[in-house]
Parts: sequence; C-alpha cells; structure tokens
Amino acid sequence: MDFGLRGKRALVMGASKGLGFAIAKELAAEGAQVAVCARNEERLRRAAEAIGATALPCDLQLLGAAEQVVDEAMTALGGLDILLVNTGGPPTLPFERISPDDWRRSFEGLFMSTTDAIRAAIPGMRERRWGRILLVTSIAAKEPIENFTISNALRAGLHGLTKTLSREFAASGITVNALMPGYTMTERLAEAKLDLDKVAKAIPMGRIGQPEEFAALAAFLSSERAGYITGQAVACDGGALWSI
Ligand SMILES: NC(=O)c1ccc[n+]([C@@H]2O[C@H](COP(=O)([O-])OP(=O)(O)OC[C@H]3O[C@@H](n4cnc5c(N)ncnc54)[C@H](OP(=O)(O)O)[C@@H]3O)[C@@H](O)[C@H]2O)c1
Repeated sequence: MDFGLRGKRALVMGASKGLGFAIAKELAAEGAQVAVCARNEERLRRAAEAIGATALPCDLQLLGAAEQVVDEAMTALGGLDILLVNTGGPPTLPFERISPDDWRRSFEGLFMSTTDAIRAAIPGMRERRWGRILLVTSIAAKEPIENFTISNALRAGLHGLTKTLSREFAASGITVNALMPGYTMTERLAEAKLDLDKVAKAIPMGRIGQPEEFAALAAFLSSERAGYITGQAVACDGGALWSI
C-alpha cells in the first residue's frame, strides 16, 4: 500500500530512542522529510543521522520549548504536514509520593507541550487544508495502571483534547488522533521495574510489543490513506485493553 507520505514534512517529538525513534524511522523510510527532537543532544544527533532526519535539541518541560521546536521544524523543512506529539513519560509513583512540583513539571512536559506544539502547527496546516496530528498517550488513559498516577490522570485529559480538536479542525482536512501504546519494549519499560514475564503473561498475545509494531500504526494514521479517520484513540497493545 502506498501511504502517500513521500515528501510530507513531519516533526516527531521525543524521538532519539524508543517509540518516537521507531516512528521517525518508519516515516523516513516511507519518504517523508523528518525532524526529531529530544534533550540529550549527542544521542539525538546520532539517531537523526541514522535515518537522515534533522536534529532539533529541546527540553519539552521548559516553557515555550514545544512552540519553538515546531517553529524550528517548519523553518528546517519548509512547513509541517505531520505533527507527532510524543514526550517523556512522567514519574510512576503512588499519589502520596507525588509532590506538587512533580505534578506541575509533568503537566508542563506532557500536557502544555502538546497544546503549545499543536497551536504552532495548526495555521500552516489550515492554510494547506491538510494535516495529521497524532498524540502518543497510553493504554493507561483508558484503564488506569497502578502507580502510573500522573499518566492515568493527564493522558485521559489528552484524549478529551484529541476528540475536541478533531471536530474543530475536521473541515480543514486535519485529522487528530491518539495512539495508545501498550507494553512496548523500550528503555522506559526496561527501567519501570516491572516483572516483564508476568506482564507478558497477562497480555492476550503473550508477549511485549516491539516499537516497530507501534510505528506501523503511526505511519498509517499519518498517511494520505487515513484521511477519514479522526478523533480516535487507537491501541497497539496485543489485546491488553479489555474495555470496549
Ligand atoms: N514503552 C511503553 O511500554 C509505553 C507504554 C505506554 C505509554 N508509553 C509512553 O510513550 C512515550 C514514549 O515512551 P518510550 O517508551 O519510547 O520512552 P523512552 O524510551 O524513554 O524514550 C523517550 C524519548 O523522549 C525523549 N524525551 C524525554 N523527555 C523529554 C523532554 N522533556 N523533552 C524532549 N524530549 C524528551 C527522550 O530523549 P531524552 O531523554 O534525551 O530527552 C527519548 O528520545 C512516553 O510518554 C511513555 O510514557 C510508553
């Protein structure tokens, strides 16, 4: 299937490793011009070089950073057709161990960076009457996971935002969807101190997912072919979610 991504211009946020990198790699392989951002400059440059992308170092938890990186991507690529909002995950702690500062920093990094990036990307997409906005959230947005308190709370809000924006921008040819990763083998998952054998056994497919499997979903929803799909939250989770 031709995804129609050749020549499209994409910014993938949080993309020096893990899910973001896999998505950037897939979009580049489909012929898109890609920019990637992350904090660690050296790792980002290595990742960008490996897939022929433009590296834009930034820390999405800093005020104004998301808007700035979208502007930089538009300058580097000559515009932006696809915005893939992906951020670092928040700390995983039970409520009583989360400080007000943890909440504020996580809100800046997870939520404000999303709204700021979208605000910066929208005018050009509206003008060209074509755009794809994808938010990487989590299956925790639908079925809260123990100790993923901040993620459970904020990502459900991002789904509300996704649905709202999808309706606001639909007539301009812009789709807005959320992608829900299930348990997927990245550094973040490895560092989460979970019993991965136990986790895998609880997944109907009996295994942890691979970033490339998630990236395939992102590439499809970024594509020309997915132009009538908007306002959805789609999981790539081996059947882990039970809710309908
Ligand atoms: N993997 C899973 O099983 C899973 C499941 C559900 C949800 N998720 C969510 O999906 C997202 C991606 O997860 P992942 O597993 O790919 O994580 P990861 O392997 O830790 O990768 C995160 C990427 O984002 C960048 N990043 C982190 N904080 C950033 C910041 N403040 N500003 C700019 N870039 C930042 C990291 O680079 P730097 O550190 O250099 O900035 C890295 O490139 C996270 O929000 C995670 O919670 C993951």
